[in-house]
Amino acid sequence: MKLEQNIKIAVIGLGYVGLPLARLFATKYSVIGFDINETRVKSLNSGFDTTLEVDQETLKAVLVDNSNSEIGLYCTNVLEDIAACNYFIVTVPTPVDKNNRPDLTPLYKSSESVGKILKKGDIVIYESTVYPGVTEEQCVPVLEKVSGLKFNEDFFAGYSPERINPGDKEHTVEKILKVTSGSTPEVGLKVDALYKSVIIAGTHLAPSIKVAEAAKVIENSQRDINIAFVNELAKIFNLMNIDTQEVLTAAATKWNFLPFKPGLVGGHCIGVDPYYLAQRAQEFGYHPEIILAGRRLNDSMGEYVASQIVKLMIKKGISVNGASLLMLGITFKENCPDVRNTKIVDVIKALKEYGIIVTIYDPLANVEEVKREYKLETTNSSPIEKFDAIVLGVSHKEFLKLSFSEFQKENSLLYDVKGVLGTIADNRL
Ligand SMILES: NC(=O)c1ccc[n+]([C@@H]2O[C@H](COP(=O)([O-])OP(=O)(O)OC[C@H]3O[C@@H](n4cnc5c(N)ncnc54)[C@H](O)[C@@H]3O)[C@@H](O)[C@H]2O)c1
Repeated sequence: MKLEQNIKIAVIGLGYVGLPLARLFATKYSVIGFDINETRVKSLNSGFDTTLEVDQETLKAVLVDNSNSEIGLYCTNVLEDIAACNYFIVTVPTPVDKNNRPDLTPLYKSSESVGKILKKGDIVIYESTVYPGVTEEQCVPVLEKVSGLKFNEDFFAGYSPERINPGDKEHTVEKILKVTSGSTPEVGLKVDALYKSVIIAGTHLAPSIKVAEAAKVIENSQRDINIAFVNELAKIFNLMNIDTQEVLTAAATKWNFLPFKPGLVGGHCIGVDPYYLAQRAQEFGYHPEIILAGRRLNDSMGEYVASQIVKLMIKKGISVNGASLLMLGITFKENCPDVRNTKIVDVIKALKEYGIIVTIYDPLANVEEVKREYKLETTNSSPIEKFDAIVLGVSHKEFLKLSFSEFQKENSLLYDVKGVLGTIADNRL
């Protein structure tokens, strides 16, 4: 399908997902990034992305200083600045509340904002991860109510889930095949053509918005369940005194064995999205067993890792109460500054309950954010003292270059949560 002229795109929510997408579209179209966080907007307009997803040079190459340019990216927290756009792409967070129930507040609020400026002929595309039905049954009614316009007559919707992997500089947004969908067959083709014009890897036009929503949420649920399975294996093989990594390496020689690794499942995607699917299933009267079992198992791993560390310290004759431990990394994953829902915090909390004094070193984490969110002190610079135990919690590139002996007392433990140090460590998950 041929795209119409004068495409003007608004991207609403400039985080890990929204910014790389806005930057990509801005190489070809006029794009206005809208975010309620003024600090974030200021920092982006000066060319600096604190999520480290888009480097300064790449960002500055597309930045323009007003919302009227024919091509390029302008960021704003003023709603009127996006009023002239005809495509609105919503990339706001979809967290869970304290009871692990979907919290759609950012989606409702951003839909209200878009509703205020929506015009006839506009298309609103949601990218946030949701359960099937959210776009048409939750967001569209807000757009209709606030705008006074009629869905699929005056304005249209689409859903195109994001598949980026923060910290991954290889699989960037344009290199990942994108699922697209629209609220009518014609709009589906339009949405698909829009993404196809910038996504090198191509697109897959799903037959409906609900199919596209369901596809995304099962991708992350599948990963969660697979990781839960290998985490369970790690627990079993630890009891049997068998090295899990060695078992997985041997099993991976079969052509159809899936190479998942045990570990902590944090962040706001894999550890959260299965709850969206589970909640919706329950509303339809089905209690999901495998999905929730996976969640329970993965959520218990922080405490389990701490108990393994303590056992190994005792075996080495290290006095646990009052021992010093260096935790390398606090972000939820490697090479990414995101500390939201990091499970390293569970490990630290459990270690402290054993009386262990924990020093946290993470070159990427924002010290103030860690303090605010978790009431924990972190340092961005390498410590100078030696410790009774060192735990490689997150395999940031910087850590893989470290000489661990620099931090080790004579009789000390080196524990490798991620299993990336090979045989150097005393043990690994
Ligand atoms: N981060 C990932 O790896 C990833 C990958 C695929 C999909 N997703 C999904 O994409 C969505 C966004 O995730 P993210 O990681 O980019 O989140 P994020 O927290 O990094 O960014 C969201 C941005 O939206 C802004 N925002 C919040 N409410 C707003 C509103 N009402 N109006 C305008 N802006 C608003 C925030 O200020 C923030 O800058 C989520 O649904 C997530 O599940 C995330």
